[in-house]
Parts: sequence; C-alpha cells; structure tokens
Amino acid sequence: MPKWKILLPQQIDPEAMDLLLNNPDIEVVGPFKDPAEARRLIEDVDGVIVRSAFQVDATLLDRAQRLKAISRVGVGLDNIDVDYACKKGIKVLNVEGENALSVAEHAVALLFTLAKGINWFDREIRRGNWKSRYLGKPIEVAGKTIGLVGFGAIGKKVAELALSLGMQVLFYDPFVEKSESGAKKVCVLEELLKGSDFVSLHLPLTEETRKMIGERELRCMQPHAFLINVARGAIVDEKALYRALKEGWIAGAAIDVFEEEPPSLDNPLLKLENVVLTPHVAGLTKECTRRVAVKAVENLIAALKGSD
Ligand SMILES: NC(=O)c1ccc[n+]([C@@H]2O[C@H](COP(=O)([O-])OP(=O)(O)OC[C@H]3O[C@@H](n4cnc5c(N)ncnc54)[C@H](O)[C@@H]3O)[C@@H](O)[C@H]2O)c1
Repeated sequence: MPKWKILLPQQIDPEAMDLLLNNPDIEVVGPFKDPAEARRLIEDVDGVIVRSAFQVDATLLDRAQRLKAISRVGVGLDNIDVDYACKKGIKVLNVEGENALSVAEHAVALLFTLAKGINWFDREIRRGNWKSRYLGKPIEVAGKTIGLVGFGAIGKKVAELALSLGMQVLFYDPFVEKSESGAKKVCVLEELLKGSDFVSLHLPLTEETRKMIGERELRCMQPHAFLINVARGAIVDEKALYRALKEGWIAGAAIDVFEEEPPSLDNPLLKLENVVLTPHVAGLTKECTRRVAVKAVENLIAALKGSD
C-alpha cells in the first residue's frame, strides 16, 4: 500500500518518472494534458512536483488538506506562493545550480546570435539576398564587455564562459560581495548599463525586480548594445523594450522569457527584426531536463521521509 500520493500536473523526464513509478511508497496522480486539471485533485495528495506552467497560489494551498511538500523542477519559484506555503507548514523545494550550465550556454548562444547577426543573415539568404553579406555588420565578442544583472549560479557560469571568450565581465548583485573569477562588481545598476556592450539578466522575478528594466534603464544602455533575457519576462517592461528596439535606443535583444507565456501573436516584439526569440528553452537541454527532474523527485522523497 503506497504511503504517499504525489500530484504530477505535467510530464517529467522518463528517468525521473521511473524513480517515482518504481518506488513502492508512492502513488502518482498525473500527468495531465492540461496541467490546470490537476488543481481539482490537490485535496488528497502529500506532495506535488511542479514545473513552470502550474500555479500554486493561496486558493490552491487552502484546499490542500494533507500536502507536506512542493518540489519545483528547476529554479525560479515565482509560480508558487512560497510565503503562504511556509505559513501552512508546507515545504517548498527547488533545484539549485543543476540547470546553470544549460541556461548559461543558451545566454552565450544568444549573445553570439546577436553579435554575428545569425538570425538576420539566415532570413536574408532564404529571401535570395546574398548581398546581405555586405550589409550586416557582425562583430567580434572578444574584447567586448558583458554586464550581468544577478550573479548567482547562472550569472557566475555566464561570467566563466564570457571570460574564456576574452570578454570583460561586470556584474551587479547587491547580495554578492565579490567574484573570484575576474568579473568586476559594480554597485550601481546604471554604471553596468552604461558600460556594457551586452547586458544579460540572471536574477529572480520578485516584487522588487518586476519591471526593473524599464524605460530609464534601457535609455542608459548604449545604442550599439544588446539586451539578453533568459531570467523572467516580467523583469523587463516589454512595452519600453519595444520602444527601445523600434526607436534605436539599443541595437537588439534576445528573449527566452516573456511577460505572458506563450506570448500573444499580437505581441509587437514578435514583429521586430532586431529581436531573437526562443520559447523558454534555456534550461530544456536533454541533459539538464533529466538532471533537474531526477533531483526534484529526490528532493520530494527526502522531504516526505523527513515529515514522516
Ligand atoms: N530561461 C530558463 O529556462 C531559466 C532556467 C532557469 C532559471 N531561470 C531564471 O534564472 C534566474 C536565476 O537563476 P540562478 O540559478 O542563477 O539563481 P540564483 O538564486 O543562484 O541567483 C540569482 C541571483 O540574483 C541575485 N539578485 C536577487 N535580487 C537581485 C536584484 N534586485 N538585483 C540584482 N541581483 C539580484 C541574487 O543575489 C542571486 O545571486 C531564476 O530565478 C529563474 O527565474 C530561467
């Protein structure tokens, strides 16, 4: 007879799934075609394994009669009301650091895409515009400066990769004193924005960081500079970003994350040529998906054992 019922709103990696299914103490409920369907079953479960498309809000938590732990597949707890869960004595766990390499590599891939105009050249050659080779102006990244906003697991990995490419690295993170690696700390965000050729965001979405990059910040950046966002869409004011890109306050942007996901087809950012877009995939490499899901399952089992 299984001891714990675990709600699984969305599919997870097969190796992690096997860990759940082969554990005689566990009964799995899910996954569901529409993750929101899982909400109606919250009353009767001991644990939940949450990816980014499932909202754990106060209303849901109020209905959870015997929930002991919520395990997030990944980092970024903005889809979970952590304070309320903690007040109710429910543990909230996330997987720190395991996706840093994949997300950092994605940020660097976007950096190269912007610097080398890969997406623009790709479009032009398909239109028969061979002469685009004289028009696009790719740049070298060595010798350029990247400014990292947020210097945790992912920011540090991006710094390591950027330094190995011969870039200079600045970082702004009020909670990190210094870097061991050669990245230089700046204490004022404006200084980083003014001094960087690429600005890359690696901080969590909180009430404090929501729309932290707005018109004032974008206007601080240089006209040839690029913004890369693989953190959370709502950290950037998308309307201001659109104007910045349209009116040339900055040269371009690469965006993996959006204020609303998936973005509406009317989102004007989708119409701009100086924007590179990916659908929230920075952490979805094969390797990372497996690592993070396995860790999330292990975290949940350990928490349930601990609360026995
Ligand atoms: N696109 C993706 O697929 C993907 C995948 C994983 C994580 N993420 C996002 O990346 C974020 C960072 O991940 P991480 O693993 O590096 O987290 P982390 O907790 O290791 O690092 C976050 C850093 O941001 C700093 N920070 C907090 N508030 C700040 C502020 N106001 N200004 C500047 N810095 C601030 C913290 O001090 C910390 O050092 C996550 O919160 C998540 O939202 C995105």
